[in-house]
Amino acid sequence: MSKIKYGIVGASGKMGKEIIAIMNENGNELVFKYDLDGEWENDSPQILIDFSLPQVFEKSIDYGIKFKSPFIIGTTGLSDEQMNKLKEISKQIPVVQSYNFSVGVQLLLECVQLLNKKLTDWDVEVVETHHRFKKDKPSGTALMIKSVLAQDRPAGKAGINISSLRLGNVVGEHSVSFGGLGETLTITHNAISRRTFAEGVLRAVNFILDKQNGFYTIKDVLSS
Ligand SMILES: NC(=O)c1ccc[n+]([C@@H]2O[C@H](COP(=O)([O-])OP(=O)(O)OC[C@H]3O[C@@H](n4cnc5c(N)ncnc54)[C@H](O)[C@@H]3O)[C@@H](O)[C@H]2O)c1
Repeated sequence: MSKIKYGIVGASGKMGKEIIAIMNENGNELVFKYDLDGEWENDSPQILIDFSLPQVFEKSIDYGIKFKSPFIIGTTGLSDEQMNKLKEISKQIPVVQSYNFSVGVQLLLECVQLLNKKLTDWDVEVVETHHRFKKDKPSGTALMIKSVLAQDRPAGKAGINISSLRLGNVVGEHSVSFGGLGETLTITHNAISRRTFAEGVLRAVNFILDKQNGFYTIKDVLSS
């Protein structure tokens, strides 16, 4: 794979640093970055990656359009309006969006869908645990789980509760528990390192470079 010139929005953050590390290890070149201390540009990026905060979103998509570069966004807590705008922008540039770039969470979602179809008369609860610095609550991943659960729940069982814990430096843990009269079944994903999300981003980078304009998710990336 030839060297990719890339840009990062949220470059000084925990995820920004992790993504820069993995991109550089793979022979790619950081040519643009943006964070609270301003912007730095050495060249036009062929791809732009945003792991920042929702308040940076408008500025970030302006950069994506300016550079006409594919856009990968993992920022959580986006409003419905921002998600709609992202889908609109994907008519002009290819976009990959996911609230979770790990392989394991995609598998968790598949398992949850399967269990949910079989256990429609059981109770279900979602618990997410994250580090104390996390800004949004509930997590984007918990919202993804909730939307998968809601697809197959009868109307009366559609109110799915999410409990959010903020503890120390936990990277990210999601549990989905089903409860019947006499037994419970729990499935848990535990992100041990942010590296796992950065690996997903690297796969998304290699996926998106030759794609047509459009809105893609990590599911498209992992199944390619
Ligand atoms: N999709 C995923 O797989 C995934 C995984 C982990 C984290 N996330 C999300 O990615 C985002 C970043 O996570 P993090 O742990 O790196 O957080 P962080 O707080 O460490 O990093 C956020 C960065 O954004 C910068 N920032 C904040 N306001 C800004 C502004 N107005 N202008 C410019 N820069 C600004 C901060 O200075 C910081 O460097 C969060 O939304 C988080 O929930 C997504």
